[in-house]
Amino acid sequence: MNPTELLNYGKGQLGERNLNDARILIEHCLKLKPSEFYFSKKSIKTREKNSYQKLLDKRKNGLPTAYITEETEFMGLKFFVNKNVLIPRQETEILIEEVLKLLPTSHFPLPTILDIGTGSGNIAISLAKYISDAKIIATDISKEALGVAKKNAKLNDVSDKITFLQSNLFNLLPSTFYLLPSFDLIISNPPYIKNSEIKKLQKEIQHEPKIALDGGKDGLNFYKKIVLMSRKLLKKNGFLMFEIGYHHSQKIKKMMAAAKFRNIKIVNDYSQQERVIYGQNSN
Ligand SMILES: C[S@@+](CC[C@H](N)C(=O)[O-])C[C@H]1O[C@@H](n2cnc3c(N)ncnc32)[C@H](O)[C@@H]1O
Repeated sequence: MNPTELLNYGKGQLGERNLNDARILIEHCLKLKPSEFYFSKKSIKTREKNSYQKLLDKRKNGLPTAYITEETEFMGLKFFVNKNVLIPRQETEILIEEVLKLLPTSHFPLPTILDIGTGSGNIAISLAKYISDAKIIATDISKEALGVAKKNAKLNDVSDKITFLQSNLFNLLPSTFYLLPSFDLIISNPPYIKNSEIKKLQKEIQHEPKIALDGGKDGLNFYKKIVLMSRKLLKKNGFLMFEIGYHHSQKIKKMMAAAKFRNIKIVNDYSQQERVIYGQNSN
């Protein structure tokens, strides 16, 4: 059996829909690079087929592929992931793309950025990588998630640009940040699933940390708090940017307008779902 035949075997178990997962698990199992997969004439040993089968079994039980391989990609960068962090989603890349348009280095020479609920660190690390001279503070309530984020900052060689802070939203942010409004951008992909809906989500998502999903009764708990506090921390004209869930845009827009944010914009993702909202502090 060669890798292509093994892929057919994996497809037979996971189904056509999960063909990509079947391939990633082979690459992981045989330590092949994606570019090597289709050209490999390697003959698969029984021991290798057995360990592939173990990975297929985990996948069939609903464990996401990224948790099995402990790796994923975001903005072209590699991230270590485990059960303590949400697996970075492709849709979240829209936030990074919007920030890169909003903070041209000509207008924001040394941008200061606060990332709330950093998880694996995907947002903070991508911004550190793609915005030269950015200074970033990344917070999370979860000590374990911060451990993962720090590891990823090292992996991507941006540890010197990011300060990681364990904090329940803003509560442990040093008071100096309030004395003089400090940030050009506050960005967050907060937990935004209504808590009554979490149990109904597909079984892959059930493996992700509940603390990364649960946005309270209406899914909006975090937005309310972050909108109010951000006013005190953003520089004049500084940006507040969120990832948002389905049907949340108008409610969050109202909250931001009530807190006197201006130029509020909503951006769709590539599946034409409203995915990002941002506005500018008028203070
Ligand atoms: C939806 S995940 C986003 C993770 C990552 N930023 C991303 O985009 O993939 C939300 C994150 O918020 C964190 N979180 C939950 N409650 C928090 C709180 N009260 N203060 C700070 N972070 C919190 C969770 O631990 C989780 O890492």
